[in-house]
Amino acid sequence: MKTKNLMVTGGCGFIGSNFIHYLLRQDDFTGRIINVDKLTYAGNPDNLEGIEKNYPDRYIFERADICDPGLMEDIFSRYGIDAVCHFAAESHVDRSIKDPGAFIYTNIVGTFNLLEAARSHAGDFILFHHISTDEVYGSLGKEGLFKETTPYQPNSPYSASKASSDHLVRAYGKTYGLPVTISNCSNNYGPYQFPEKLIPLIALNAKEGEKLPVYGDGRNVRDWLYVEDHCDAIWTIMKSGRRGETYNIGGNMEMENIVIVEMVCDMLDEITPIHRGKNGPRKNLITFVKDRPGHDRRYAIDFTKLQNELNWSPKESFESGIKKTISWYLENSKWVQRVKNNEYHSWISEQYKL
Ligand code: NAD
Ligand code: DAU
Repeated sequence: MKTKNLMVTGGCGFIGSNFIHYLLRQDDFTGRIINVDKLTYAGNPDNLEGIEKNYPDRYIFERADICDPGLMEDIFSRYGIDAVCHFAAESHVDRSIKDPGAFIYTNIVGTFNLLEAARSHAGDFILFHHISTDEVYGSLGKEGLFKETTPYQPNSPYSASKASSDHLVRAYGKTYGLPVTISNCSNNYGPYQFPEKLIPLIALNAKEGEKLPVYGDGRNVRDWLYVEDHCDAIWTIMKSGRRGETYNIGGNMEMENIVIVEMVCDMLDEITPIHRGKNGPRKNLITFVKDRPGHDRRYAIDFTKLQNELNWSPKESFESGIKKTISWYLENSKWVQRVKNNEYHSWISEQYKL
């Protein structure tokens, strides 16, 4: 992967920031990163603290909206962008149910603008890697796994917008010969995840002795992957994946939500048994709430294509990954406090009304 000027979109978000930290540590990446991020509620420059100082010649931040086609073209020209790793998106399913508009603009129109910019620089352009989700495949029953050939059946405005962007990326590969790769990944967890998503939300509420909202019967299943394993899979695909192809990425770690919530409670009880003067196990804080509309029952990923073709498999076990994650949230109270002071708090309290 000989990219000199790699545009990373959404680099201040959860996975994007982990990817930038990861990539700058790799010996086989010698280029420069141009991080393009609008800094929505989910974008947090704190996630990349120290990067500008530590890599003055290799990292540039551009606050920009991918929905602005003129600006994307300008950034491509100014920096000689020769590859894109596209994370920027509205990413939270519950928000897409409440207010789908931003998902249509950013996830579909934004991706289209980037593809157009890449197309107009086609001569020097090496790769457009598109980050997507397993949610495009819909919901599984008790058996079976999502394969790259599973028909798309998105059930939420979020997954429908991601499905649409996947199709656009693929079509630009077929129609214009743009070098593209797509990855569809399962649920990530790890440092820097915005605490609207299950694991950080539960960890921080449990720490504070607040109620723990579990949707429906809590038996929905997700396939969990530690974020650094995701970053490693992305870089592997960017370097060696066949152009025009899709690769599924997963953790081989199916878990029911309620099992994860109880596990997080137990871990925190072990660290600090007493919270806010109240004794008793944190499991008592679990509160079953109204289910998410259209809530997908089960996701599970078959990543044998990535394993067989590119020799990738996840390294982190869930047991060690969740320990690292919980410790990170406990140790980074300044980060947590700053995030909580943002608009996130009013969203959460309005959403759950516990
Ligand atoms: P996130 O919400 O934490 O971060 C998204 C980032 O995109 C933020 O920094 C935000 O400011 C930026 N952004 C949003 N709209 C923008 C716009 N119009 N212009 C420029 N920047 C904009 O998301 P995440 O969880 O890090 O997910 C990153 C990508 O990975 C998304 O494409 C998501 O669909 C995909 N994905 C996420 C998961 C997961 O478990 N989180 C799993 C599979 C795939
Ligand atoms: O599968 C990949 C997807 O994983 C990504 O594409 C999305 O960007 C990412 O947000 C994630 O989507 P989910 O909807 O699976 O993640 P979330 O953390 O919102 O929810 C995980 C599960 O936990 C889901 O079954 C809903 C449930 N849940 C979630 C929250 C926030 C609860 O029971 N209570 C909660 O408070």
